[in-house]
Amino acid sequence: MPERVVLDPVSLAPDDLVQRQRFSSGPSSTLRADPAPEAESIAEVNSYLAAHLASGSGYFVQISDPHIGGGVDGSPAGFDALFRRGTPVPRFQRVLREIQALSPQPAFVVITGDLSDTGRREELERCRDLLPTSGPPLYLLRGNHDVDLGAFMDVFGALPYVDAGRVAQAGFCYAFDALGVHCIALDSETIAPGGPELRWLEEELAGHADGSCVVFNHRHLVAVDPLIEAYLDLPQPHADSLLSLLGAHNCVRWVFSGHIHVNSLAERGALHLATITSTFYDLNDGRTVAPGYAGLFAHLVCVDHGQVQWVALKEFGGSTRAIWPAA
Ligand SMILES: [Fe+2]
Repeated sequence: MPERVVLDPVSLAPDDLVQRQRFSSGPSSTLRADPAPEAESIAEVNSYLAAHLASGSGYFVQISDPHIGGGVDGSPAGFDALFRRGTPVPRFQRVLREIQALSPQPAFVVITGDLSDTGRREELERCRDLLPTSGPPLYLLRGNHDVDLGAFMDVFGALPYVDAGRVAQAGFCYAFDALGVHCIALDSETIAPGGPELRWLEEELAGHADGSCVVFNHRHLVAVDPLIEAYLDLPQPHADSLLSLLGAHNCVRWVFSGHIHVNSLAERGALHLATITSTFYDLNDGRTVAPGYAGLFAHLVCVDHGQVQWVALKEFGGSTRAIWPAA
């Protein structure tokens, strides 16, 4: 376990940045102070979709970690020193606007946790009020910043895919079917070896042994960047239990996470483990506190006949590029 460090992106030395990039396991973002206008950004991604979505295939979108209530929008005392500057709401709104302009529309959108910055009900309510009320189905995960499960349920417990009885037992976990895939959303804050959430997950996987499953989990499962791991005291507690369970089921090949505010793609056996950065703060290059634009990314995941065909990284205000298979 690396020594814990207090990571302040403002004061990262050049050597730290080099180290971060050397250990980066996946595509890294670039900081852009002057993003393309939304109309250009939307046209760019729709052109990508037109060129790469084969007839009969579909796709979904993953974004993560909006941290509504953090930065200058809300909590000056902030959950985390990293998040005291910046403007999460307009950045989240831009991402949501661009998703709404995608053509064709995704089969669904998933936001993989840290909807709020400190977990307070008013932050969660603000996040809820920012979400679109029409368009593709929207699936929400709980993150470690959404610390209050009771407040989370007060705000999001009425969503049609939420089973309050299961939440009481096993946390905010659920499953749904889309694009011929059984999608399983986990609550990374309640997973424990031998616990009810892993037992439920095992039943889900066993019940779809002949099919195809995709898993969403807020926290990442394998180390991505030593500096970030040290700062956040990660990887996910009980990651090994979860990885061994997933690895024992051939029906699951992909896990999509957020949490570390980094774009990455790793492989563990037959599993592909992808993280998407935050819509608020991107930690890829350490220059996260520059005002304005950085790290507005989404995963576009193409699925055909129940199998993930490709995963692209869409930079809102910038380019779209394949990250798997490698371009
Ligand atoms: Fe997180």
